[in-house]
Amino acid sequence: MIDFTGKVAFITGGAGGIPRATATLFNQLGASLVLTDLNAAPLDEFAASLPNKQARCVTAQVDVTSTEDIDAACALAKAEFGGIDLLVSAAGWFPECSVEAMTDAHWHQVLAVNLDGVMRTCRAGARVMRDGGAVLNVASRAGHAGVANHSHYAAAKAGVMGFSKSLAQELAPRNIRVNCVSPGLIETAMSAPMRERIGDARINLTPLRRNGQPGEIATAIAFLCSDWASYITGETLHVNGGAYMAG
Ligand SMILES: NC(=O)c1ccc[n+]([C@@H]2O[C@H](COP(=O)([O-])OP(=O)(O)OC[C@H]3O[C@@H](n4cnc5c(N)ncnc54)[C@H](O)[C@@H]3O)[C@@H](O)[C@H]2O)c1
Repeated sequence: MIDFTGKVAFITGGAGGIPRATATLFNQLGASLVLTDLNAAPLDEFAASLPNKQARCVTAQVDVTSTEDIDAACALAKAEFGGIDLLVSAAGWFPECSVEAMTDAHWHQVLAVNLDGVMRTCRAGARVMRDGGAVLNVASRAGHAGVANHSHYAAAKAGVMGFSKSLAQELAPRNIRVNCVSPGLIETAMSAPMRERIGDARINLTPLRRNGQPGEIATAIAFLCSDWASYITGETLHVNGGAYMAG
């Protein structure tokens, strides 16, 4: 069985659908948690509801576009727990905008959250990570296949995968593995406007004939963070019901 007892996991976007499912699973597997999100109130409410009260959880309000915020949260992890073992970058933002309507400012805002935020999290996290740990960055099917009216998001997610492969090479001497999970359409608040707009169109193109659930991403994340994936690094695991089959 996967057992994270004694491990410390740091998660960004902790109030969101996929990060909540991940935090809940990690908590059940025994990990102590440092949960961060832009929105402090739902994060604290969620943290208080975690089922395994034996495993500690601390929270911090973090905007991943702020180096100061993310550095402070990693310093908190060091002070509270002595370091980090598992680092999960899951904060994300998925606004809609055509390329023709795109301003420079909007393009940069979306990359600041979805790409720069991952770099900031990994940079600060790596400095306090214990050797033998694991980094997991949440990418997206959009980074492989593209999505109309979400070019900024798709570009950022493609960037996350290139960044993660480079980091995997940098951190390998410390036996820290770096991988990505690339979800398809998962039923969370983020995908609600798109699901509303496209109805069953994506489901009809998905061999398993349904959207994914946050818990189905959480189990993939837990696997890649666990010793069961001890020889896997620089890899991206697709979790999309067959909607995109990578060669
Ligand atoms: N839901 C999907 O279909 C889907 C598909 C592919 C990838 N993803 C990725 O999965 C991850 C989790 O998404 P989700 O579906 O759970 O969405 P969600 O909207 O439920 O969660 C995202 C979380 O990120 C937080 N966040 C946004 N901007 C932030 C910032 N600047 N600083 C800190 N936190 C910030 C939000 O407050 C929210 O709690 C994201 O990286 C997303 O891009 C989701």
